[in-house]
Amino acid sequence: MNNVELFENERAKGYNQFVDAWIPNYHYFLDCLPKLLSKTPVKDLLVVGCGTGNEMDRFVHSAEYWSITGVDPSPEMVSQASDKFHSCENVTLVEGLVTDLSIEKKYNAGTLLLVLHFLEDNGNKLALLKDIADRLVPGATLVMLDITGNKNQIRQNLKVLRLLLPDGLDEAQISNRLNRIENELYPVSEERISELCQEAGFEEPLRFFQSSIYMGWLTRKK
Ligand SMILES: C[S@@+](CC[C@H](N)C(=O)[O-])C[C@H]1O[C@@H](n2cnc3c(N)ncnc32)[C@H](O)[C@@H]1O
Repeated sequence: MNNVELFENERAKGYNQFVDAWIPNYHYFLDCLPKLLSKTPVKDLLVVGCGTGNEMDRFVHSAEYWSITGVDPSPEMVSQASDKFHSCENVTLVEGLVTDLSIEKKYNAGTLLLVLHFLEDNGNKLALLKDIADRLVPGATLVMLDITGNKNQIRQNLKVLRLLLPDGLDEAQISNRLNRIENELYPVSEERISELCQEAGFEEPLRFFQSSIYMGWLTRKK
């Protein structure tokens, strides 16, 4: 499947350590999520690409009671999430794609964190956003976090990211990873994110957060 980035083996096992090192302010961003979505009238959330459940965790432990559905195609990531939430009756995990979820059920809010930059802008990004829009009620907020920027922005912000990395990381690994981000992932410009969202049936998105190459976006289903 070319519209899926599978996280397996060491990549799945070491995922949480990896994000801690490589995404400055990631935990701050996650902590903001329940506040950002606090005006949601019915607290049922769709978490797309939920991985090991980092963002779900914030909603499980928030003051308000959320019904949370996480969907992710990587069995090893879903298995970690499932270990974490096996006793939470408000959490449903689906191993698969958004298209595996019923189109009848509509959610009142959604998240899409660190997924879109793995998909090519050849229809795959748009298809995922449309599939999400189809499963949200009108007015539902979608929060996104994604590597965003034109080539020059990404190049400059990768230099900033290098400065912010924790001490002690292996230099060869740093270079490999920076090179992979620059040349093998599929970030798009801010303008393109905006176009994609609107074409998929969302309002013009608002960039409310940035930490080096990572931008946080808020949009609403039209
Ligand atoms: C970098 S992880 C992000 C996990 C989680 N959102 C977080 O912030 O910790 C990317 C996740 O996206 C999932 N993924 C890849 N392709 C996908 C797709 N087409 N639809 C939904 N999830 C996808 C992967 O399996 C992986 O778990």
